[in-house]
Amino acid sequence: MSDSQNARAASLSHLHSGSLAKGDPLSTPIVMSSVFHLPGDPAGARQYGRFDNPTWEAVEAALAHLEDADAIAFPSGMAAISSVFLALLSGGDRVLLPSDGYYTPRVLLEKHLIRLGIRYDTRPTASFLEGGFAGYRMVLVETPSNPGLDVCDIRAVAEAAHAAGAIVVADNTTMTPYGQRPLDLGVDIVLAADTKAPNGHSDVLFGHVASRNGEMIETIREWRKLAGVIPGPFEAWLVLRGLETLELRFDRMCTSAEIIAARLADHPAIRSVRYPGLAGDPSHALSKTQMLRFGSLIGLTLGSEEQAEAFIDTCPLIEATTSFGGVHTSAERRARWGDDVAEGFVRLSVGCEPTETLWQAIDAALKTA
Ligand SMILES: Cc1ncc(COP(=O)(O)O)c(C=O)c1O
Repeated sequence: MSDSQNARAASLSHLHSGSLAKGDPLSTPIVMSSVFHLPGDPAGARQYGRFDNPTWEAVEAALAHLEDADAIAFPSGMAAISSVFLALLSGGDRVLLPSDGYYTPRVLLEKHLIRLGIRYDTRPTASFLEGGFAGYRMVLVETPSNPGLDVCDIRAVAEAAHAAGAIVVADNTTMTPYGQRPLDLGVDIVLAADTKAPNGHSDVLFGHVASRNGEMIETIREWRKLAGVIPGPFEAWLVLRGLETLELRFDRMCTSAEIIAARLADHPAIRSVRYPGLAGDPSHALSKTQMLRFGSLIGLTLGSEEQAEAFIDTCPLIEATTSFGGVHTSAERRARWGDDVAEGFVRLSVGCEPTETLWQAIDAALKTA
């Protein structure tokens, strides 16, 4: 990691200590209160639990520190995405989405936002720049895309989309601020499902939006307050605790993924591997220019649906779950959700287990699958 990333990681756990009075708890308290003591003029104080909460403020301060931008917390990744759409788009606007990214934003637009007159188009991540951005009010990139792990050039998209007058949003869920920094590459808004690696323990859903554009932040924050898409204080506290070890966990996960992806690429049971860190991957050259790490997700294709399911079921160190980014390694066949991938395609989310022990378990399961 660069010195600035190291400094950011090191100071994260000490953010709160500057405001402590003698005798205060070092751990941030969970404040479970829907109302606050509010006599007289309500201005300048916390007023009501849909407007403010000290535990959100703490997690937002940590997220803001990581993103180097203002941050707003949400109760899930989709709450963050839908809030960006609903707060910033109007009837008649067009949005461009990746055709190979997380599918739920497309379904949301197709089933609901279309009724409000918001239209959308999709385009593959690998050729996202082709066709330009004229006519779009918003452009959403997700790179590497989930689950195919294709990559687009964030800086080039931001420049071209801005020239066409669009707001540029990056879903950075697969990378976290330690793996990729889309705001530094020119996008207006970064958002993520903190449900994944930022929380990391598979026990909470959460999301955030971050931006250096004060007007956009105020609009989205007001949207959250009016629409009531607020996180619970306990969830905020869990994510805050998760963030304190994110750098450590993500480092182990990415290092293991790099080693395991290279071994999978040579494995006789595997037809193909996608991982941005592999020298032979179609996205490698671009990934090196914009990613700080290559991530913890590997896409591997086995010969058939049966082989893929047997691999997942046989390996004692792989949890058969959807989602990714947990401390435990997990995997799933994405075709079961209708993603446009081969039946034998498995998205492997590499966890924090010791690397060689994990590899031995994966290798043994592949031999019997
Ligand atoms: C890339 C990406 N963005 C957003 C989301 C939505 O997050 P959540 O499930 O917390 O709503 C997901 C969930 O899998 C995702 O993979």
